[in-house]
Amino acid sequence: MKLSDQSSIKDVIAAMSLADKARLVIGSNNYISADGAVGATASVPELGIPALDMADGPAGVRISPHREGFTNTFYATAYPIATMLASSWDLDLVTEVGRGCGNECLEYDIDVLLAPGLNIQRDPLNGRNFEYYSEDPLVAGKMAAAMVRGIQEHGVAATIKHFAANNQETNRFTIDVAVSQRALREIYLRAFEIAVKEGQPWAIMSSYNKLNGTYTPQNSDLLLTVLRDEWNFSNLVMTDWGGGDDPVATMFAGNDLIMPGKQEQMEAIINAVENGILTEDILDRNITNILTMILKLPKQKKYQPSHKPNLQANAKLARNAASQGMVLLENRDVLPLATDNKLAVFGNAQIETIKGGTGSGDVNVERTVSLITGLQTLGYETDHNLTKVYQNYLTKNRKKPEYQSKSWFWGTPVIPDMPCDVTMIRESVTTSDAAIIIIGRNSGEAKDRLVRDDFNLTRTEQDLIDNVTSIFHRHGKMVIVLLNIPGPIEMVSWRYKVDAILLVWQPGQEAGLAIADVLSGNVNPSGKLAVTFPSEYTDAPTANNFPGTPSEDPTRVIYEEDIYVGYRYYSTFDVLPAYHFGFGLSYTTFKYSDLILEQDDQDLSVLVTIENTGPVAGREVIQLYVTKPNQDYETPNLELCAFVKTKLLKPGEKQELTVNIAPQTLAVFDEEDSAWVIPRGTHLLHISASSQDIRGTLKYHHSLATTLETVNDVLGPQVEITRLSKN
Ligand code: GLC
Repeated sequence: MKLSDQSSIKDVIAAMSLADKARLVIGSNNYISADGAVGATASVPELGIPALDMADGPAGVRISPHREGFTNTFYATAYPIATMLASSWDLDLVTEVGRGCGNECLEYDIDVLLAPGLNIQRDPLNGRNFEYYSEDPLVAGKMAAAMVRGIQEHGVAATIKHFAANNQETNRFTIDVAVSQRALREIYLRAFEIAVKEGQPWAIMSSYNKLNGTYTPQNSDLLLTVLRDEWNFSNLVMTDWGGGDDPVATMFAGNDLIMPGKQEQMEAIINAVENGILTEDILDRNITNILTMILKLPKQKKYQPSHKPNLQANAKLARNAASQGMVLLENRDVLPLATDNKLAVFGNAQIETIKGGTGSGDVNVERTVSLITGLQTLGYETDHNLTKVYQNYLTKNRKKPEYQSKSWFWGTPVIPDMPCDVTMIRESVTTSDAAIIIIGRNSGEAKDRLVRDDFNLTRTEQDLIDNVTSIFHRHGKMVIVLLNIPGPIEMVSWRYKVDAILLVWQPGQEAGLAIADVLSGNVNPSGKLAVTFPSEYTDAPTANNFPGTPSEDPTRVIYEEDIYVGYRYYSTFDVLPAYHFGFGLSYTTFKYSDLILEQDDQDLSVLVTIENTGPVAGREVIQLYVTKPNQDYETPNLELCAFVKTKLLKPGEKQELTVNIAPQTLAVFDEEDSAWVIPRGTHLLHISASSQDIRGTLKYHHSLATTLETVNDVLGPQVEITRLSKN
């Protein structure tokens, strides 16, 4: 009996021994396959079941670049980090990136990509925010769905992760997240709900943390009641690597596959069956989901990988995706900067430009294009002497033990910026037309960021900005700052000193070229923030409870801010951020006109005409926010309910767009009735260029409250939560 199609599954399972079954629901035991993948399932050749190879991650396929017995290499493409892709607000682009990742998985013989990650960026210091899209569940869910569609077009599986409420790295294996049902449904589950329903991922990875008292891989309310019964997810659920503490409970809860898999987990499952604790029909159910996924995959279809993915095309895609995700934060008529300008470039990251974050989300690339290389490639002349000083500083410090990589997982430590001697600046200003300062920092898995010298600038960085601006400005020359960062940093104390600020995030392997594309005007920046930059870290609504208590070794984190995450908080409680959600400048300007609200029964849409009223071609991201009525439910002042990006509009060109509003985006989660309800009253629909730049408001009057869907009363908090409220 061999696995051949869906109808063969039942007979194949019937032919399995208990040992076969226990082997199949457990990964192949810390398997590092020849291709450097991070995990695999067991093979049962006599039943025609192949082993599946799995690899990370959200910014590209992380595999070993070298394989035993092969002369060719297996370098993959490092795309921009997820938070940068989300800053493009371009779903088609993200699907393209997904296709690029899918192509490299397919041709490098990887069956399952452990991506995208879509946890909510709840607090600015989460070490893995770089791997996630946004503070907003609609952006996160839509981006993830777009990525999944792209990846799976090549017949490999996407794995959305980490399900659910994995919003910090501190004590990630054990932390218990206490959150209200409403915040869970409207924020933390919502993104996954959108990704599941609109992306149809073939796999989901449960998270490490507990959710209201139960580890997610052992939480049947989450994995069976919500995910499968309510959302009709019918594919595979796997654990995170080492997730959960009870393999038998994991089986019962509907987590089909335990990764990476240990012998003792297999034995525990066999013992549980032999002692009548676990019945084989539970194993059969989980194995059915595993085999159903296997049937979809290239190995089962005997695909012969070429080991030659479209690396050149994918590199161009990575460069384009990076330039589309950059966010212009300040521009006092400096940018774009003609390439005949000679540039003095300050900052270590001009040479060691940071392509992405560390941990499983890293990618093994053949090379990363540095800022200095990108600038020179596009024709800018740079101050070689200045760059040489930085190069010597880096070479010298890189030899020190504290700056050498401890392991691939922790990445290469970022060397603190070189204190820049004022005489060097004085020399450089005489031969340069403008200055560029690049601020670089990194973050990664298993560790959260710090406020000191991380969210806040270091003393060296502040001195660099002060000295370069005072000297260059004295010579009537401009200073441009580039932010090569994984998440928000403090901006208010220094932004007024410089003439332009371009947020280049972590742009992937083509970093320097993409940055030069935007600086030069080859590409007009169209990115907008998908996360708020608070003025101070302490302004964040989570600053008082992140990463949990007791502070020295947290066991529980209570989401007291409740539904007021990110801009939902800042816009409701009138806390002024440094840069607000949805913000981004352009080299051109746009006019919004002809706003019309169309309603067809429950289907609402807003028509709007966008005109490029400026000097150069550009794209605009239109955001639609709703202020829901307040009489029956407390609601945030603003919630994003739709977004769309224009095509590239030439100066003077117009585009008419229809922004469709999904009814659920107008609903609130009613905890009393466990139901999604569109509240009665007047909903204000704001067509906006950002969460604080409203270009027009339409009124939608909903006379009677409408229940869209009643769900199960599950996943309630086990502890009292003092929930933030505006009343
Ligand atoms: C890690 C990460 C997960 C990754 C997995 C395999 O611990 O949490 O995102 O896919 O293990 O590397």
